[in-house]
Amino acid sequence: MRFPMKTVEQQLSIEVRRAFREAFPDVDLSRAALDVVPTSDESHGDYQCNAAMGLARDLKRAPRDIATAAMESLGAAEAIDRVEVAGPGFINLTVNTSWLAGHLQALEMDEQLGVPAVGAGKTVILDYSGPNVAKQMHIGHIRSTVIGNVLDRLHRFLGYHVLSDNHLGDWGTQFGILIVGYREFRDEEALQKHPIAELERIYVASSNRCKTDDAWLQSAREELVKLQQGDAENLKLWQLFLDLSMGEFESIYERLGVSFDMVRGESFYRDQLSDLVAAMEAKGLAVESEGALVVELEKEKLPVCMVRKSDGGFNYATSDLATIRTRLEEFKPDEIVYVTDERQQLHFRQVFAVAEGLGWKALLSHVWFGLMRFPKTFTTLEGQTVEVEKGTISTREGTVIRLHELLNEAEVRALAMVKQASPDMPEDQQRDVARAVGIGAIKYADLSQNPQSVVTFTWEKALSLEGNSAPYLQYAYARIASVLDRYTATFPASVLEDHPIILQEAVERRLALRLVRFPDAVTRACQSKRPNVLADYLFELAQVYSSFYQNVPFLKAEEGVRESRLRLCGLVAKTLKTGLNLLGINTPERI
Ligand code: ARG
Repeated sequence: MRFPMKTVEQQLSIEVRRAFREAFPDVDLSRAALDVVPTSDESHGDYQCNAAMGLARDLKRAPRDIATAAMESLGAAEAIDRVEVAGPGFINLTVNTSWLAGHLQALEMDEQLGVPAVGAGKTVILDYSGPNVAKQMHIGHIRSTVIGNVLDRLHRFLGYHVLSDNHLGDWGTQFGILIVGYREFRDEEALQKHPIAELERIYVASSNRCKTDDAWLQSAREELVKLQQGDAENLKLWQLFLDLSMGEFESIYERLGVSFDMVRGESFYRDQLSDLVAAMEAKGLAVESEGALVVELEKEKLPVCMVRKSDGGFNYATSDLATIRTRLEEFKPDEIVYVTDERQQLHFRQVFAVAEGLGWKALLSHVWFGLMRFPKTFTTLEGQTVEVEKGTISTREGTVIRLHELLNEAEVRALAMVKQASPDMPEDQQRDVARAVGIGAIKYADLSQNPQSVVTFTWEKALSLEGNSAPYLQYAYARIASVLDRYTATFPASVLEDHPIILQEAVERRLALRLVRFPDAVTRACQSKRPNVLADYLFELAQVYSSFYQNVPFLKAEEGVRESRLRLCGLVAKTLKTGLNLLGINTPERI
């Protein structure tokens, strides 16, 4: 069963709306921002509403007067203890403490921790990761995988019907070059050991040869045409390249805990392109230009979008358009979300504009992110120091860092931390914990940042036990798990739920106010498509928990107070676990 109750923020907003309607019955308030937001400074109450300032012009009254008028009918609400008008006309609300405790008890019983099913009945397609066959994933694909997977989890948690699709780059001119190169240059042993690296080597050797050897270039072109025409031999090779690459991608997905509902690469749509382009031409949408076929997007202030090259080949955009058409027909999504690095912004603006020109109806969104900077040097698992060119791990920039190596190093460093923290833990368990902490640290370093800002990765930050990091949050979770275990061991006959939650101390109330914001944080992170909104929330919650933990006794408190505090601990643990799992990060019970 889903939680039927509204979040605290929603309930207070409803009260505020009601109060304004009562105070100004003859005024059209439909455009006013009658919502509350948590205050940033607790001396201003718990939540505030800033609507009075926005209404001043329409109502021709001073904002403070407006706020005071609304305040009068607000006071009666059960959820609200105190209303104050402050500064130029802010309405500051203080929540009733026992009402707050009651709300927490209701949250405790809900599997979803009060997160509303705002997505029920809606279908979203999430297009993320999308690496290219026979090429190493670059940092853009990795961030797309990590961020896209969190958007995937958030949408599912909010009740959306989600279809995740890994749109591989698995069709294109590179395959002619690869096929001729494979025949000539392949090293079977290397192909078994490091398939993608070997395919990349073959590709580079073959494309270099194309530059100096016309006959070679000619035969690469012929092999490509044969492949496109369905030649069995070449299709077999193409399938081999695909399988080898997918094997390596999958081992990365497995380590990252990522899986897809479908893997439909560009090749899936290859037979639909000429048809689609013909339809666009017939509609007058695509026109000839210097032998190529383009869609003009002058009205949208965008450069032309090429849908067929002068040699008859199709473009990346053509393939994406065919993909949209199929997705709309087959799945009738309300929204399609693409997650890629910033370099594809123009591409998607053009594709979305053409889709609109074709009259296709669906919300199309592009979530883009900046590149991530890495340190200048990097130590591999084998202890080698490698230089990272330009500070990014990107094959386009010709660097040697592999994602597996990054993850390996994270696990090695995390293992050292775990060994120090829990020297008596069995070795196997230490390794499991180190895996969760190491991979969590890498993911969180990415997810805790605004996706659109440049992120500089450092081990110190990623693995810090004090700062905004996965290990910090995982430690907080494990500490609570052990407090709860100690309680059960010390008071085996006691049932926590027999005692109500009471919020006596300021720090308990502060913690309660953070706990009830979880549903808002999840909803906001999903709707703004910014995982960092949830990360920020979890970090703040853990910080408030930590001052709670340091300032009030748990097991030594008197009966009743003790149980109430342990219920709060339990709620913090559940919130951290649920929140971190939404970020794709595991929470070991012990660290
Ligand atoms: N393969 C593309 C690349 O590596 C990413 C695919 C993104 N998805 C899409 N539908 N175009 O740049």
